[in-house]
Amino acid sequence: MDFVVTPSRLHDARIRVPGDKSVSHRSLMLGSIAAGRTEVSGFLDGADCLATANAMRALGVTIERPSDTEVVIDGVGLHGLRAAAADLDLGNSGTAMRLMAGLLAAQPFDSVLTGDESLRGRPMNRIIMPLTRMGAVIESDCDGTPPLQLRGGMRLTGIHYEMPVASAQVKSAVLLAGLYAAGRTSVTEPAVTRDHTERMLRHLGSEVRARDGIISVDGGPVLTGRPIEVPTDLSSATFIVLGTLLSERADILIEKVGFSPTRTGVIDILQGMGADLSVENPRLLGEEPVADLRVRSSKLYGCDVDPALVSLAIDEFPALFVAAAAAQGTTKFSGIGELRVKESDRIAAMAEGMRRLGIRVEESPDGATVYGGRFTGGDVNCFEDHRVAMSLVMAATIADDEVRIRGVDNVDTSFPGFRECITSIGADVRVV
Ligand code: S3P
Repeated sequence: MDFVVTPSRLHDARIRVPGDKSVSHRSLMLGSIAAGRTEVSGFLDGADCLATANAMRALGVTIERPSDTEVVIDGVGLHGLRAAAADLDLGNSGTAMRLMAGLLAAQPFDSVLTGDESLRGRPMNRIIMPLTRMGAVIESDCDGTPPLQLRGGMRLTGIHYEMPVASAQVKSAVLLAGLYAAGRTSVTEPAVTRDHTERMLRHLGSEVRARDGIISVDGGPVLTGRPIEVPTDLSSATFIVLGTLLSERADILIEKVGFSPTRTGVIDILQGMGADLSVENPRLLGEEPVADLRVRSSKLYGCDVDPALVSLAIDEFPALFVAAAAAQGTTKFSGIGELRVKESDRIAAMAEGMRRLGIRVEESPDGATVYGGRFTGGDVNCFEDHRVAMSLVMAATIADDEVRIRGVDNVDTSFPGFRECITSIGADVRVV
């Protein structure tokens, strides 16, 4: 499936984007190992989270879907999971693969985790190493990529792990394995990463300590099922923010957006570029902070993006590349090497797409320099990466001519209804 975008203007609106992907995955996994029922609302009905739901069902958990955004999980308790009859296929989802590896490393049964071609090319040594130190036995392909074969019946012991990469997926894998390990498991991260696992563990009654940059859990907690309200996804809201900033005279309010301070780097970066963005009505949804986000069309200026904000905005760089291209002047991104091992090599994918639309981009192994300019019409590939696709769609709304974005099927990974959402606020996007 391709999208064809005709240059168009967004208009004033008040909207809501779908549920947070990270929180939705965690609600399924933690709800499954809690005792009793967990009713989830605001769930993201996207392909990645559905892969996690199917995996948890295959492990013996009853999960019902009263509606697209509601999930009812009858938790089986910490020790209630059962061996799956077949390999667990986690589709395109790195989060599902890495967190499930932590969860399954200490079970009494064997498991095999696999996924689509993109996922089967992604690095897993970053979780295999700490989990092995805890006593897990995990085999991968020789280059550390999936499928992962996890041996059952291993007794894990808590460790302290100094994470070499800032990754919430690695942190979460170690903490989830730590729930089953003897003693205490702790991690330190080289930079702060999203904290949804910690917040949800607390919400379900487990103690998680976070002191002096060390995050720790004790083995054998009692997790109790409770209702979980999933905030909407700031990463999805970012595409609406971007489109509004680039458009002329639009004023859009995005409601109930997840606003953990571990996710808000994109707001700081865009404000630093001149964005008229304000955060209204901050409040808590269970343990998760949320707020309404008001954004108005703005003139943007290039800047040197602070590398200290990278882990707080890790999924937003494709969108930030587009903001940089639309800004006056030059924007330098550094310390973003992790983007090369996401659903695609996002530095290369965005550089290629934007160059095809007339923007000058220089790449380095862990950075890029984007020169402000005008997007021309053209034909671009999104390398089957949902965030690359949506970023290029928003760029196309301000192009000089029509843009065709090829292979956009994976948009459903994180933002089902993306096209309907942006056409409802004025973008002209056709499916061909
Ligand atoms: C995620 C963590 C991030 C992010 C991904 C979701 C999570 O990955 O890119 O989309 O839910 O924990 P890393 O932690 O590997 O950077």
